[in-house]
Amino acid sequence: MEWRLRWDAQQSFLLPEREVRFAAMLDWVESLVGRRPRCLDLGCGPGAVSERLLARFPQARSVGVDFDPVLLRLGASGLGSVAGRMTWVDADLRARGWSSSLPSGRYDAALSSTALHWLTGPQLGRFYRDLFRILRPGGVLLNADQISMPAGAKKLRAAARELRRPSSRSPPRPRSSRAEDWTEWWTAIAREPHLRGELALRARRFPHEHMGTPTPDLAGHRVRLRRAGFREVDLVWSSGESRVLAAVR
Ligand SMILES: C[S@@+](CC[C@H](N)C(=O)[O-])C[C@H]1O[C@@H](n2cnc3c(N)ncnc32)[C@H](O)[C@@H]1O
Repeated sequence: MEWRLRWDAQQSFLLPEREVRFAAMLDWVESLVGRRPRCLDLGCGPGAVSERLLARFPQARSVGVDFDPVLLRLGASGLGSVAGRMTWVDADLRARGWSSSLPSGRYDAALSSTALHWLTGPQLGRFYRDLFRILRPGGVLLNADQISMPAGAKKLRAAARELRRPSSRSPPRPRSSRAEDWTEWWTAIAREPHLRGELALRARRFPHEHMGTPTPDLAGHRVRLRRAGFREVDLVWSSGESRVLAAVR
């Protein structure tokens, strides 16, 4: 199976609601900024959000931004430029000035899926301030991610996490009949000789993966978005802690 399809299978194994969540994001894009948006796909990986956006809206354009050379290469070689509507940018969303690597001009929407939880609170605050500057007035951020309930909501938190465990939703399946998980996918792709350079660069750029990043909860996102200048901030889709948070500039 092609690596991008294996990626989608691996991500959907972790997030069974992934396609429903993508569809919800795109419904909100259409309703807020129309069917011809100029978009960003932030932490795009191999391009799952952009692929669905560009298929659903034939006049949309997207700029995928990521710092992982392996995933960027899979995206650029597999999805490609989609007849000139897709651009790939290698940039670190944690860095000051990440937005200066983008094609110039304002954007209608910034989409992100399962990526911003890699940023700490201070990084997220800076990132939202930069994003505010490159969205047009009325433009929107749609962030689909695991966004925690407040630390004080102990029972809700525990229940949401219990609901996420695959075994709580379905009986355990033998290894042979289920998709790879994150570690298995990365172990498999690490054996690809033609990606050796990208794999080595990735290891230098992400020496500790992101596991355990102390990223803000829902209240932390809201306060940082407000401080950055976003006028309206609210959840527009949610399944436990898997949510889509929208912010209008
Ligand atoms: C779980 S993947 C999700 C990829 C894609 N959005 C999807 O839903 O399939 C998280 C992505 O965020 C990217 N990412 C994490 N930290 C980043 C950073 N500081 N700058 C740019 N991309 C980052 C990772 O490289 C990875 O591609």
